[in-house]
Amino acid sequence: MISKNEIAILDFGSQYTHLIARRIRELGVISHIYPNDTPMAEIKNVVGIILSGGPKSLVNDPKVPYDKKLFEINIPVLGLCYGHYIITDYFGGTLGTGRSSEYGIAKMKIKDSPIFKNTNEKLNAWMSHGDHVEQLPPGFNQIASTENESITAMQNLEKNIFGFQFHPEVNHTEQGQKMLENFVFNICHAEKNWDTNAQLEQIQEQIKKEAGDKNIFLLISGGVDSTVCFALLEKTLGKSHVFGLHVDHGLMRENETTQVVKALKKIGLDDLNVYNAEDEYLEKLKNIYEPEEKRKIIGNLFLEITDKVMAKKNMLSADWLIGQGTIYPDTIESGGTKNADVIKTHHNRVPKIQEMIAEGKIIEPIKELYKDEVRKIGEKLGLPHELVYRHPFPGPGLGIRCLCSDGTNLNKPEIKTFVKNEIVILPIKSVGVQGDERSYAHPAVITTQKTWEELETISPEITNTNKNINRVLYLLSGEKSNLTESTLKKTYITKDRLEKLRKIDAIVNKHIIGNELCSNIWQMPVVLIPFGHNKKESIVLRPVESEEAMTVNFAQMPKQILDKIVEEINDLEDVDFIFFDVTNKPPGTIEWE
Ligand code: XMP
Repeated sequence: MISKNEIAILDFGSQYTHLIARRIRELGVISHIYPNDTPMAEIKNVVGIILSGGPKSLVNDPKVPYDKKLFEINIPVLGLCYGHYIITDYFGGTLGTGRSSEYGIAKMKIKDSPIFKNTNEKLNAWMSHGDHVEQLPPGFNQIASTENESITAMQNLEKNIFGFQFHPEVNHTEQGQKMLENFVFNICHAEKNWDTNAQLEQIQEQIKKEAGDKNIFLLISGGVDSTVCFALLEKTLGKSHVFGLHVDHGLMRENETTQVVKALKKIGLDDLNVYNAEDEYLEKLKNIYEPEEKRKIIGNLFLEITDKVMAKKNMLSADWLIGQGTIYPDTIESGGTKNADVIKTHHNRVPKIQEMIAEGKIIEPIKELYKDEVRKIGEKLGLPHELVYRHPFPGPGLGIRCLCSDGTNLNKPEIKTFVKNEIVILPIKSVGVQGDERSYAHPAVITTQKTWEELETISPEITNTNKNINRVLYLLSGEKSNLTESTLKKTYITKDRLEKLRKIDAIVNKHIIGNELCSNIWQMPVVLIPFGHNKKESIVLRPVESEEAMTVNFAQMPKQILDKIVEEINDLEDVDFIFFDVTNKPPGTIEWE
């Protein structure tokens, strides 16, 4: 759907392309992403065009194609990173490579320009580039610089064309959103036409179009995404066209299934079916310890159960689509766009699902949204606040928080850091995301007392200087002297271990959910690791602050609450150590597997 008031984004393959679209929507203006080579005839109704960044070098690689009419249709253009080079190349400037690369934050000085209206003169800008603009094209003037001697930003006011070396769409660029706002309203003269109402309307239109005369079979964990999806589908298509199934895979939290059924009933979603699959899951996960394998088994079993239930109910697969509450981070982290790496395979992105998507058998009404946008839609649909603002809980449940091991004590890397003697490396590994790629590496444990402020500094210092460490833990409880002697034990997912984790998870939740002092916590996974000396098991607490799960900070917690949690966990006499995860994302994902 092309609206007269749209900002179009041409995608040259950046990890942040989707984020640009989201930022424009946040400004209240509709925005769509188009492939790099889309003919301009198809997007001529827009009021502005943004050229994204991309992974290729314009100097060393073949040029990524685009329709050159882009620069002849008198529509304002903003090029970001690769887009900045495209503008330079087209208008006859000079590009260079290597000499002036910048990664991360750079100090930027800006000059007077409508695109920098009401921003500070000195700003931090987030960069990630090997190529650079060496000489301006004729007709352009430089409007920003950093210490490296390249052209950080440029403009041609007559043509309304702007180029930025940096990424205004990422949070780490100061006042980046203000710059996009200037582009959208002062330069493109867009009018506000996008809000949650418009978004809801568009999603409902899309659901009707995709569903046609088919019914939807939806699995519902009871988390925010699947619940919002259920409500959306029932409201749009009518109850009789939606079959909601809650699979209790035995990897749920304490009393979760009962509470989910009750909560949904209370809000009129009273037609939820429940299937108990605990034994099936335990059987399939027996003897499995590799995280990606676990994830795939869990995802595939959801599909097998779907087939089984459909067969039992005589539902003809030709009459049904499978619905999923997939959101955008699930897709991007599962390697779901042209250039993205697989960080972790989310349960709704296993290969079989990918095949079914290609065959048009899947419907995912909220797949373009981030968690906070899903919540707004949920509220708009009238779902209660406490349901919509529940802490996120992953589809594979405790299955990916109950770490397993074949008993091999992995070689621990040497650590290079000034606090070396205060640190112990654990023989276990966990998943992380570094430089947009998956990592699977060891955690380092800080064993001496530190303040939150100190931990905030030390944690990134350790992960930045040690490639084989992607996570930093702080020892909350357990004898430091036992730490070096402790080992990994051979263990898999069992009923007993799940029960243990469930109990500890319930203790943690009792103290943090609804507690004003913990309102900064966006999610708090509790992870059981098969590492220790006596009990051979330990616990990791992983509270995080986030907006949409793409980036997070570890959450600081009041000491009195943490002490209480530690005391109650220790009373169970089930674990040797309790660790607190002080890793941001990147480099550590929220979940460990
Ligand atoms: P990570 O661990 O990638 O998690 O930082 C981001 C968010 O996604 C949740 N998560 C999942 N949710 N299916 C889901 O529905 C999955 O397979 C899955 N894996 C992680 C995670 O809990 C966090 O909120």
